[in-house]
Amino acid sequence: MRVVVIGHLSTESRRWWDCGDKAYNEWTHEGSTEISMRVGLPGSSPVIKEAYMIVYGMSGAFAQFRWHRRDHVVFVLYRTKTFFISKKNKKKGLIRMARIPYRIYLTEDEMPKHWINIKAVMKEKPDPMLNPATLKPCTAEELEHIFCKELVEQELNETDKYIEIPEGLLDYYRMYRPSPLIRAYNLEKQLDTPAEIYYKFEGNNTSGSHKLNSAAAQVYYAKKQGVTHLTTETGAGQWGTALAMACAYYNIDLTVYMVKVSAQQKPYRKTVMETYGARVIASPSETTDVGRKILAEDPDTSGSLGCAISEAIETAMKTDNCKYVLGSVLDHVLMHQTVIGEETRIACEKYDIKPDIIIGCIGGGSNFGGLIAPFISDKIEGKSDIRIIGVEPASCPTLTRGKYAYDFGDTGRTTPLLKMYTLGSGFMPSPSHAGGLRFHGMSPIISKLYHDGYIEARAVEQTDVFNAATIFARTEGILPAPESSHALLVAMEEAIKCRENGEKKTIIFGLSGTGYFDLSAYNSFNSKDMMDYIPTDEDLEKGFAELPKAPEK
Ligand SMILES: Cc1ncc(COP(=O)(O)O)c(C=O)c1O
Repeated sequence: MRVVVIGHLSTESRRWWDCGDKAYNEWTHEGSTEISMRVGLPGSSPVIKEAYMIVYGMSGAFAQFRWHRRDHVVFVLYRTKTFFISKKNKKKGLIRMARIPYRIYLTEDEMPKHWINIKAVMKEKPDPMLNPATLKPCTAEELEHIFCKELVEQELNETDKYIEIPEGLLDYYRMYRPSPLIRAYNLEKQLDTPAEIYYKFEGNNTSGSHKLNSAAAQVYYAKKQGVTHLTTETGAGQWGTALAMACAYYNIDLTVYMVKVSAQQKPYRKTVMETYGARVIASPSETTDVGRKILAEDPDTSGSLGCAISEAIETAMKTDNCKYVLGSVLDHVLMHQTVIGEETRIACEKYDIKPDIIIGCIGGGSNFGGLIAPFISDKIEGKSDIRIIGVEPASCPTLTRGKYAYDFGDTGRTTPLLKMYTLGSGFMPSPSHAGGLRFHGMSPIISKLYHDGYIEARAVEQTDVFNAATIFARTEGILPAPESSHALLVAMEEAIKCRENGEKKTIIFGLSGTGYFDLSAYNSFNSKDMMDYIPTDEDLEKGFAELPKAPEK
């Protein structure tokens, strides 16, 4: 009998062949030598190996084969390096696929050793960052006044698809990675859907979210450069906490400007940051010129992210050997998050999972960009037609209702100009409990991918989000972050569509964090006083009117 298995050649499958040898030997020792199979791969040598079969990356072909030739099939080699021989079904000759576990954990050795630079793959690159004074592209030298040198190099790199993760940083990643890719068996059952749902969970570290992936990287490079002090802002508190953890490990001094209202609402976030050694200042404060000015004008202001960014940048500029770090939006931050996507891709290959839809929440775009990186690369290169959906709050509808234009990244209008989808740097999103998604702009990479039609965007209302979060908490056992629950809601909607259409799709969504510091939001939902806010067109026009004059392509 001759079997031609259709699959693609990869390093992983080569390794499997070696294991296949062992499995075949074991089998033949048991006296079943009547089989002669051949494995071929399209575009490569038609006959690779006699006498055993590789089942890899080709569920369609595999299924066909199973039904048409089952009387001849004696064993199956499938899943990970441990080949599974179906002794139980030996006589019948049925092929059995091993069940995908609830939690897929890669080993430390399997963790990616590189990040993906999506820009290198993009056919058209995003427009460059501009210096607002000259309206010329920012130079590396200009950016190095504020950011660390290697991060600036990463920010401006448009050619190298893979950027190595330094060994010293991998040591830090190993403390909390790899993160699990979880099969939502319980949620599937709850929704009664034929869809397979998976989520990549980034909330298993003390900071509670994906933010640590870039915090650790940025602090690592700061340390390498001999920087002794960092400043940042934090809105919801996740980013500040992640940075405080990384600064404690690499022994760097950290000042966090925390939006005043957040500092009041989430005192325990402040406590965690302080426990890790950070100095946390409620913003606006008396410690900077910009803070004093704002307070003089409005002593009772509750602060804003834009104001906290301005204070953090001013302090970085005035402090010796100090740099400013940002937790989202910029290309290098998104790139650090691609460790999420690479782990997901490796886990999928290992278990022959073929995603049809990938979904993530979008604030500044970093966790979403990180999750989709390998999949969008394949899509751009024409290797797949996967659907990719970014989900934002209807209260801050940057992609779905924003303008694609140059704008400032902060309300204080101090940052370089970024070409992105924006609601205007003066846009004040109405209160939403997903603090991490309340940003007027969007990563320039995600903006460009959306503009060029590679990704879809959806805006959802927060009561629906919390409803989904509650179902998820009760079925899957994890209390999700409100931000991540935006992605969860759309994943559930897609799974329900599968039920209605009788389609079996594979859906992966990013569960970027836990909701343990968002209990006041859950409280508001539980006590039914949560409101949905959707800005009117007039509200949005006010933000657009403030857009800076910048060259349009
Ligand atoms: C849990 C969580 N998810 C998502 C986000 C959104 O940020 P980004 O779009 O950069 O991933 C945040 C931001 O604070 C967050 O804390």
